[in-house]
Amino acid sequence: MHTQVGILGGGPAGLLLSHLLALEGIDSVVLDARSRESIETTIRAGVLEDHVAQLLRDTGVGDRMTEQGSVHHGIELRWSGRHHRIDFQELTGGRSITLYGQHEVVKDLNKARVEAGAEIVWEAQAVEIEGIETDRSTVRFRTGPFTDEIRLQRGGELEELTCDVVAGCDGYWGPARQAIPGSVRTEYERIYPFAWFGILVEAPPSSEELIYALHDRGFSLISTRSPTLQRMYLQVEPDDSVDNWPDERIWEELHTRVETVSGAGLVEGTIIDKSIVGMRSFVSSTMQHGNLYLAGDAAHIVPPTGAKGMNLAVADVRVLTRGLIQRFRTGSTEILDRYSDICLRRAWKAQRFSWWMTSTLHRHPGNDPFQLRVQQAELDYVTGSTAGSTSLAENYVGLPLELPSLEGLVNPV
Ligand code: DHB
Repeated sequence: MHTQVGILGGGPAGLLLSHLLALEGIDSVVLDARSRESIETTIRAGVLEDHVAQLLRDTGVGDRMTEQGSVHHGIELRWSGRHHRIDFQELTGGRSITLYGQHEVVKDLNKARVEAGAEIVWEAQAVEIEGIETDRSTVRFRTGPFTDEIRLQRGGELEELTCDVVAGCDGYWGPARQAIPGSVRTEYERIYPFAWFGILVEAPPSSEELIYALHDRGFSLISTRSPTLQRMYLQVEPDDSVDNWPDERIWEELHTRVETVSGAGLVEGTIIDKSIVGMRSFVSSTMQHGNLYLAGDAAHIVPPTGAKGMNLAVADVRVLTRGLIQRFRTGSTEILDRYSDICLRRAWKAQRFSWWMTSTLHRHPGNDPFQLRVQQAELDYVTGSTAGSTSLAENYVGLPLELPSLEGLVNPV
């Protein structure tokens, strides 16, 4: 098998890249170690920056999002018995976000790619990436279906994909990043001393907009997926387990943390999914080597507060698409040579914002009263100052995208 762009990873980054390249007549093959079903049912965040929603619409994969997603024009912050709305429209010149689950985006992209006859190989685990410093890279992979035992087995027949370029969209745990020699790559990391307990609930929305709450007992977040499905999160200990959280305990804790404002009630419902996610910040610098380019979680992880993960992946993919168009049309690698620098500037700003949201809204271990008072003052400042509120709002809806221009070629959306 040979293709122009071998894409490792069939999550949002890999699928969108394959979709955008196909619109420009560039061939790709997508490999993912997971099954299609498992990718399409893994619940992730659901906040799309406006440029992401617009891109999905402009490239023909936004119909279901437009129909089922909901557009929000602000968020609410709660702390110390107070509440304040951050008005995106007013503070950012009419901008908004769209609430639509990441796995729904993946379903839409998969459907579009499969209908277009794309080559997506699920249950194909890449085990070797070779030749990224040459004109022809080779990805060796093993196909499933996998059981844990087979996955662990070494040896056996490997299949081969050769490609001009490798796109590493295979997440934090995937092999692509490891193909960049450690001598040219620096990793920056912070692990947070808390985790999120997330639930999916069959219920009507508790509020028209998302609520982010800092309480003495920890952070909580009320989000939504649809008029009948809600998403809620609670800060828990990093080593906590779903088994420690019977439904009654979850509701009691959520009521306590969210209802610091009188009359602002939480609507209970049937909990249909419970999971715990760890929180880390991570950046790989560089994001490229030879003909290998990393995008999305393979290159950077943000803690979930502010939901920047997929938005950042989409920004990477848009830059990479332009670089690849230039390379395959003109032979010039002028944009690709700057790929990592361009993406890391945005990634670090998203890191800063996610770190700030996380630090400001969570209880830090040790119950240090000074720390909590400073966080409360931070929220008081941000909500009481137009400069502070604007800073939050413009980061939340997404900083301006700076896409490199394709000189002499038609620039894609
Ligand atoms: C959601 C997740 C987030 O991390 C966030 O900041 C807001 C919403 C969500 O899953 O809906």
